[in-house]
Amino acid sequence: MSVLADRFGRVATDLRVSLTDRCNLRCTYCMPEEGLAWMPREQQLTDEEVGRLLRIAVEQLGVTNVRFTGGEPLIRRGLTGIIAAAAALQPRPKLSITTNGIGLDRLAGPLRDAGLDRVNVSLDTMSPERFLQLTHRDRHADVLKGLAGAARAGLTPVKINTVLMRGVNDDEAPELLRFALEHGYQLRFIEQMPLDAQHQWNRHEMVTAEAILASLEPYGLLPDSVSRGTAPAETWLVPGYVDAAGNPARVGVIGSVTRPFCGDCDRTRLTADGQVRNCLFATEESDLRGLLRSGRTDADIAKAWQTAMWGKKAGHGIDDPSFLQPARPMSAIGG
Ligand code: GTP
Ligand code: 5AD
Ligand code: SF4
Repeated sequence: MSVLADRFGRVATDLRVSLTDRCNLRCTYCMPEEGLAWMPREQQLTDEEVGRLLRIAVEQLGVTNVRFTGGEPLIRRGLTGIIAAAAALQPRPKLSITTNGIGLDRLAGPLRDAGLDRVNVSLDTMSPERFLQLTHRDRHADVLKGLAGAARAGLTPVKINTVLMRGVNDDEAPELLRFALEHGYQLRFIEQMPLDAQHQWNRHEMVTAEAILASLEPYGLLPDSVSRGTAPAETWLVPGYVDAAGNPARVGVIGSVTRPFCGDCDRTRLTADGQVRNCLFATEESDLRGLLRSGRTDADIAKAWQTAMWGKKAGHGIDDPSFLQPARPMSAIGG
C-alpha cells in the first residue's frame, strides 16, 4: 500500500470530502444571504465518481477516516448510497459527517444503517431569534431535533461546533456548554478562520481560544489526560458531568489561528468538483476529476493524489504578511 505523505513527514489518513457547495442556511460568517455562484452540476462528481475516489483513497493510499462535508452534506441526494459504498470498502474506514443538522432527525437512522459512525453538528446559539439573524433561516428547532435524532440513532459521540463572534454570540459560551452537558453532547468552540466568502475576516474581531477559556472559568475545567493526537480540538474535562456514554464530559477548543496544529496534520481534502486540496488553506488544487473523466487508471489517480500531498506547506501561514485567503470559500471546501 502507498501512503499520502508530505515532505515534512506527515501522512494523511483522514479524508474530508465535500459533497456539495450548496447549503440551506446562510450563516453570516460563511456566505451572503443571496447565496453564491454555485458549482455547475456537470462539474460536480457523480456518486460513482466519489465512490471510485474513495476506493482509491482507502484501498491504495491508506486513508482510514472519511468525513463528508459540504456546503451541507445532508442535501446531497445520493448521500446514503455514498456512505453505504464507503462502508463496504476494506479495510472499512470510520465514517462521519459535519452538518448543520437540518433533516438529521429523519436521516440519522438511515445514515447509521448505511454505515455512518458519527456526526458533528454546527450550532452557534441557543436563541431562536439569534439563529434567524445569524443564518437568515428560522430553523433553530430543526437543528435541536437533528441533534436529538443523532443521539437516538447512536451516532455518538455527537459533537457540536460553535463559532464564537465578538458582539454576536460570545456571551453565550456558558449557556451553550450547559445545553451540551445536559444532553451529553461534546461541544467544541472554534476560532473563526479567514475563509468567509465575503473576505471580511478580521483578526482583531476574532474570539480567541484564550478568551473562550476565560469565559468558561466558572466550570473549573481540568486538563485532559487523553492525548489529542492529530485532532484539531484541544479538550478539557468538565468536572461533575458525564457524556451520553458515561465517560467524563469534555469541552473542546479549536484554536486554528492562535494555537495552530498544522505540525500534526493528517488531513487531505476533496472538493465536490473533484479537486484535491492538500491543506484547508491551499491556494492550489489538483484536478482528479479531469483524470477520472479522461479514462486514466486508478494507479494514475493515486499517483496524482500523492504528488498533490507532497507539495503540502508546513502550515497555514495566517500570520505571514504574505498570507492570501484561498479563492474558494469555506462552503466549497468543507472546513
Ligand atoms: P473530529 O475531531 O473527527 O470530530 O472532527 P473535526 O473537528 O476534525 O471536524 P469538523 O468538520 O467538525 O471541524 C471542526 C472545525 O475544525 C471546523 O472549523 C474545521 O474547519 C476545523 N478543521 C478541521 N480540520 C482542520 C484542519 O486541518 N485545519 C484547520 N485549520 N482547521 C480544521
Ligand atoms: N472559521 C472557522 N470555522 C468555520 N466554520 C464555518 N466557517 C468557519 C470559519 N470561517 C465551521 C462551521 C462548521 C465547520 C465545518 O466549520 O460552523 O461547524
Ligand atoms: Fe493541516 Fe492546513 Fe489545517 Fe494546518 S491549516 S492543520 S496544514 S489542513
